[in-house]
Amino acid sequence: MRGSNAVELAGDIERRVADHELLPGDRLPPVRILAVELDLAPNTVASAYRRLGERGITTGRGRMGTFIAERPPVMVPTDPKARDGLRDLSSGNPDPELLPDLNSVLRDSDGPRILYGDRSVDEGLAEHGALLLAHDGISADHLTVVSGGLDGMERVLQTHVRRGDRVAIEDPGYPPVIDLVGALGLVAVPVAIDDDGPQTESLGSALDRGIAAVIVTPRAQNPFGSVISAERAAELRSVLSGFPDVLVIEDDHAAAVAGSAMHSIGQDRERWATIRSAAKTYGPDVRLALLAGDATTVRRVEGRQRLGPGWVSHVLQRLVAQMMHDPGISLDVKDAADVYASRRQAMLDALHERSFEAHGASGLNVWVPVPDESAAVSAMEERGIAVRNGSRFRIRSAPGVRLTVAALDEAETSNVADALYQAVSDLGSGTRSG
Ligand SMILES: Cc1ncc(COP(=O)(O)O)c(C=O)c1O
Repeated sequence: MRGSNAVELAGDIERRVADHELLPGDRLPPVRILAVELDLAPNTVASAYRRLGERGITTGRGRMGTFIAERPPVMVPTDPKARDGLRDLSSGNPDPELLPDLNSVLRDSDGPRILYGDRSVDEGLAEHGALLLAHDGISADHLTVVSGGLDGMERVLQTHVRRGDRVAIEDPGYPPVIDLVGALGLVAVPVAIDDDGPQTESLGSALDRGIAAVIVTPRAQNPFGSVISAERAAELRSVLSGFPDVLVIEDDHAAAVAGSAMHSIGQDRERWATIRSAAKTYGPDVRLALLAGDATTVRRVEGRQRLGPGWVSHVLQRLVAQMMHDPGISLDVKDAADVYASRRQAMLDALHERSFEAHGASGLNVWVPVPDESAAVSAMEERGIAVRNGSRFRIRSAPGVRLTVAALDEAETSNVADALYQAVSDLGSGTRSG
């Protein structure tokens, strides 16, 4: 074994477990003996063993010593539904009409019977997924499959952070991510965003104050619609380069239907994961996401998943692989991205014409700053339209409402913009920019 401090020694033992050099049930050398062998203080070795224990890689058996664990893991409130009778622009859902018909694909996605002990990732999905990721500049050298974007984020966070660690998240951001960070006992550090993604200075100051991880949405940021531009990505990568230990998680939840290219800020870092969910492209019930990352992160995610769900059902994996492969469905997905883009643009145009500041560079939503979001939501309800109160999305950022435009007919946009104009005027607003 090797290491000149506790972190290195624990890392070396973890790697040996991952490489099957150390097997479940193997006993690690007694602390004092290893300390002499490596010329380290006994406390340093004890500290390395404690770290491994906290990760569940080893178990202590009192005086008998420290052993490799039997299964070493080397590896929120729901939002209210819109009231009946309202035009629902609050849900965040994709348009069901623009999702592929799963039934027709299911009939053709037959495959071998999977048993305990088989590989966890379907080969076809790995192959097609790697191509899509490569198209976005993401390396799929280490790739696994998880049960959606949120599942992936939780699993990746748990591989690297500890209770009390600080994690930077976008503000405004996706409420389940804010909740998840809290549920894991982590401290959310808000990072301000604009149409080009997280603001460099804001991320820089979060880094200076100390964070263990940062979660970013490369495109279709929810609720703001930001897409990280090439220029912003370069700036963010540069500011992050001074902090090589910080884990970067990219939540690519809308992927092919986001309507914009992805510029990664995590690639080639020591600790990174890009999670590409199928939910917006193929439907939220297709609860699956490709998770690419560095070797340690992916190995840890797979190892921990093995202790729970084991793997994502190959029935689902084959279904997604089939849809990725099908030229007709791929064209439909492209069309869906175009339809979302033109619905978004129509809504933005209608709002800008009425002098609203409104944001929605990509994705399914448009964000409109308003002075009093609860009052604006109620006033919109009185006009028959449900929009989402921005308070759940915010930590420090200014109030707003979110309009989901995914299924909004372009003919409806002036009506919606008029209703918001009246709602905000009635409240005596000063937020419209004109
Ligand atoms: C920013 C963001 N991340 C993640 C998700 C959820 O992804 P999944 O359904 O794959 O967990 C959503 C869903 O709306 C989202 O808006």
